[in-house]
Amino acid sequence: MTRTVHVKTKHTSYPIIVGEKLERELAAAVKKEGARRVAVIADNTVVRILGTRIMGALKKAGIRAELFPFPAGERNKTQEMVTKLQHQMLKKKFGRDSLIIALGGGVTGDLAGFVAATYMRGIPYIQAPTTLLAMVDSSIGGKVGINTPFGKNTVGAFWQPRAVIADIAFLQYLSRKEFVNGLFEAIKTFLTSDALALNRVRGLDIASPFKTKKLLQEIIHRSISIKAGITERDERESGERLVVNFGHTIGHAIELLSRFKISHGYSVGYGMLVESKISELLGFISHSEYESIRNALAELGIQGKKLSQFSIASILETAKTDKKSKGGVPHYVLLSGIGSVHKKGGMYAHPVSAGIVTKAFNLCRQGK
Ligand SMILES: NC(=O)c1ccc[n+]([C@@H]2O[C@H](COP(=O)([O-])OP(=O)(O)OC[C@H]3O[C@@H](n4cnc5c(N)ncnc54)[C@H](O)[C@@H]3O)[C@@H](O)[C@H]2O)c1
Repeated sequence: MTRTVHVKTKHTSYPIIVGEKLERELAAAVKKEGARRVAVIADNTVVRILGTRIMGALKKAGIRAELFPFPAGERNKTQEMVTKLQHQMLKKKFGRDSLIIALGGGVTGDLAGFVAATYMRGIPYIQAPTTLLAMVDSSIGGKVGINTPFGKNTVGAFWQPRAVIADIAFLQYLSRKEFVNGLFEAIKTFLTSDALALNRVRGLDIASPFKTKKLLQEIIHRSISIKAGITERDERESGERLVVNFGHTIGHAIELLSRFKISHGYSVGYGMLVESKISELLGFISHSEYESIRNALAELGIQGKKLSQFSIASILETAKTDKKSKGGVPHYVLLSGIGSVHKKGGMYAHPVSAGIVTKAFNLCRQGK
């Protein structure tokens, strides 16, 4: 079943189409923009799995498209790769009447979206997410950008796509690990916004998600709907949209300190564990609520004892580079229950003393 969620912001509106075998919908979305040429940006893994199929479908629809591959991986979400791709497009004389398709996971979406945001002062792009993480989270909302030696996503833009085409059939090629990696972002959304949906995640067959396909579709659709609503209410992340960063202050530090060996979703998984413990220590959630979060994360491979590989001093130092920091002081999104966040004076992210963060980190390490 194909379903469409609409995002309407102050400046734009676009559809998010979720379903299976959506090549025709992708071609229709491209044609609607009336671009003369199309650049399909995809990493080499995605090119190998889906390149022929997607390029064939575009060609069949009479669309003049060319593929721009780049090496897969978070390490390539850089300014250098943006420049490389833009120079390739300039060399091939792609004009302002061109359109980009970001075909891939969150790395491709962020990178290709930033290429689009800055190419000839901005050209349109379409998100065609191929990982669970990109479908439930990163392809929606128009945050695009790159990592720098100074931190995650420290250069970027708000640049909304013209459409998001989420073809669930692509997920059949994901490894269990990549599937779970994406599931952490859906869990983040539900922990902060929808306790009922969180319960439903337990029913998923993680080893063979297509055995519970209907539930998978519902989880993806629910996560997209929540993210779309948040984007509509706070496009520029000045208030409510900060909630998407639950687990990310610690998570981004872990991702950076592991030199991207721990992938984004798993890093956020560890981040959610520690930030839930902080919420408990500050009296915002009960110990039993924390325990149920810890147990749910443990089932997916998040174990506090693995945090021992990081020193708390380096975590605290790296967290200062987080974009929510104010005056060099890291801020945290905290839970006020399962499915809701702590708000104080209209603020969604809060400073927390180094003592509390250290205590939370140490308790998590001890499995408490
Ligand atoms: N912009 C946002 O709002 C936002 C939100 C959350 C995360 N992010 C970003 O998203 C990134 C993580 O995204 P990701 O986990 O999708 O990483 P990714 O794009 O690197 O994809 C993970 C791996 O899966 C492979 N892959 C992609 N599609 C596949 C498929 N269908 N079958 C098999 N393999 C496939 C890729 O080649 C890659 O090796 C991070 O950079 C993070 O910062 C951005």
